[in-house]
Parts: sequence; C-alpha cells; structure tokens
Amino acid sequence: MKVVGFVGSPRKNGNTDVLVQQVLDGAVEAGADVEKFYINEMNIKGCQGCTYCREVDGCKLKDDMSQVYDALKNADGFVFGSPIYFFQFTSQMRQVIDRCWALVNPDFTSRIEAGKKAIIVSAQGNPEPDAFKGVFEEFTQVLQMFGMDVKGTFVDVGHHAPGEAKENAELMEQAKTAGIELFK
Ligand SMILES: Cc1cc2nc3c(=O)[nH]c(=O)nc-3n(C[C@H](O)[C@H](O)[C@H](O)COP(=O)(O)O)c2cc1C
Repeated sequence: MKVVGFVGSPRKNGNTDVLVQQVLDGAVEAGADVEKFYINEMNIKGCQGCTYCREVDGCKLKDDMSQVYDALKNADGFVFGSPIYFFQFTSQMRQVIDRCWALVNPDFTSRIEAGKKAIIVSAQGNPEPDAFKGVFEEFTQVLQMFGMDVKGTFVDVGHHAPGEAKENAELMEQAKTAGIELFK
C-alpha cells in the first residue's frame, strides 16, 4: 500500500506539514510506504485552459505535475494539506487542483481508478472551527469526482507560528489515528 502526502503550505515544518506528517506516520505504523510532496518546491504551472486534455489523455504542459499525476494514478491513499490563505486553499494547492482537469474525461468521469482513500488536513489562524467549512466540503466534492473515499478532515485552528499545531495534542492524536486506520 502506498500513501502520498501533499503539502500546499510554503512553510516546511509549518502547521499543515506537521498534520500531513502525523497522518503519514500513522500510515507507516499501519505498514504503508509513504511519500511526501512539497508543492511549493515543485515546478508546477497553472492550468492554461488549452483544452489539449479534452482530446488526449494527458497534459500538454511538461513540468513537475507529471509526478503528481503518477502519484494520483498509482498510490492507494492520499493526505491533501493546505492552510487557509484569504478564505481558500493556497495558490500552490489551487494550481495542482486546476491541473487535475487532465485527469477528468470530457464526460466528467475520472481517468484514475475509483476507490482510493483520502484525508484532508488544513490550518487556519481563525479560532472558529467551522469558519472555512465550505472550503473543505468543496474540496471533498473535487476528490469525490475522482471516486475517492474521503475518510476525514483535520484542521488546526487559531495558530500562526509554524509548528504550533503540535500543541494541540488531541488533534495530533486524531491525525495519527486517521493514518493508521486509512486502510481499514
Ligand atoms: C497570505 C496569508 C493569508 C491568510 N489568510 C487567512 C485567512 O483568510 N483565514 C485564516 O484563518 N488564516 C489565514 N492565514 C493564517 C494561516 O492560515 C495560518 O497561519 C496557518 O496556521 C498557516 O499554516 P502553515 O503553518 O501550514 O503555513 C493567512 C496567512 C497568510 C500568510
């Protein structure tokens, strides 16, 4: 079993990274092979809307997104993590989402196998847990377009300094347990 984590924050060891890592640590404990992508360090352009992928199974742009396409096609489970920037996921994460258009057929069926498992993690300065509920619900719908089974959403709230999420012992435990149970 392979689990891939995506960190949409530009901050390594930031709150999102800490949460993604917790889930991956749990997956390792359950016997999975894991890999983590720092999207900010990858060369990924935004979707050009060129419609190439409407005619052909693939993207015309040749950049590091090919690694993401391979991961999405071949892995069994995913941890998608992004902090909230101005009421949304970061632009880094949004670029990846838009480029996933190349994984959707013209009839809106998915070009990746259904049944993969996913966990969403996020971090926000706002202490109100439901403040960006809509963002997570919409992203869940995106993942469901690809036939993914979204197993849970874990959000660190009320923190700004990198790594402060670690102070939330309950959330850390929940994220790790979610990773352990990803394949149950
Ligand atoms: C450009 C920018 C925009 C932000 N916008 C919001 C926001 O709209 N709502 C919010 O609650 N927090 C916002 N934050 C705070 C971050 O979500 C918060 O600091 C989070 O813990 C960062 O996660 P990270 O450590 O994974 O980078 C913003 C931070 C930055 C840098």
